[in-house]
Amino acid sequence: MIVALLNQKGGVGKTTLALSLAGAWAQQGKRVTLIDADPQGSALDWSQQRAREGWPRLFGVIGLARDTLHREAPELARDADMIVIDGPPRVAALMRSALLAADLVLIPVQPSPLDGWASAEMLALVAEARIYRPDLAARFVLNRCGARTVLARETAETLADHDPPVLAATIGQRVAFAAAAQSGRLVFELDDDTPAAREIAALADEIDRLRIGRTTR
Ligand SMILES: Nc1ncnc2c1ncn2[C@@H]1O[C@H](COP(=O)(O)OP(=O)(O)O)[C@@H](O)[C@H]1O
Ligand SMILES: [Mg+2]
Repeated sequence: MIVALLNQKGGVGKTTLALSLAGAWAQQGKRVTLIDADPQGSALDWSQQRAREGWPRLFGVIGLARDTLHREAPELARDADMIVIDGPPRVAALMRSALLAADLVLIPVQPSPLDGWASAEMLALVAEARIYRPDLAARFVLNRCGARTVLARETAETLADHDPPVLAATIGQRVAFAAAAQSGRLVFELDDDTPAAREIAALADEIDRLRIGRTTR
């Protein structure tokens, strides 16, 4: 399956969730490759930091921030169980290419109704990609949910009838993500019995249960 974390907004958690999900699947013994499609290369930075700190390799990270991504990703997918694409902010051509490569688009958003997170532009790009890929699945994932989870639930309810739907698994505002990233690690490597680690595991499970991309492409 090819999963792309996409949102034109920066700082919503694309890189954090891409790395965490790739790590969660790799830990289950899946062959995972993460494609860093952001010209800023933050996932590549993470991977270099990990190597410098001497932590064992969990999954490969390759930089492919170019708009031929949709032609290269399926080839990479042949040798992997999961391909996770960490998407770019803004760059439209790259975003389109990532959308055409993906089986599932995950759109991380912060659970603020005032955030304008159901970006019309993002949704238009998904609709456009579906002309070529009618079976392209898309889901919102609520990230950085605060203690006021009511807000998150309200946001989820507002969008329950919408396409793309919101995943039930949500990720809280957790300092563990930044702490782990600093040393080239992932939250479950710091401690696998923390809210952050459990939330990532639940998110990975929910995505598995969608059973997307099981048919031959
Ligand atoms: N659930 C979370 N809790 C706390 N901090 C988070 C969370 N998700 C992301 N962050 C932090 O927010 C910042 C931006 O996240 P990042 O994944 O780089 O976003 P993007 O890739 O969409 O630009 C980073 O410093 C990251 O550590
Ligand atoms: Mg990023």
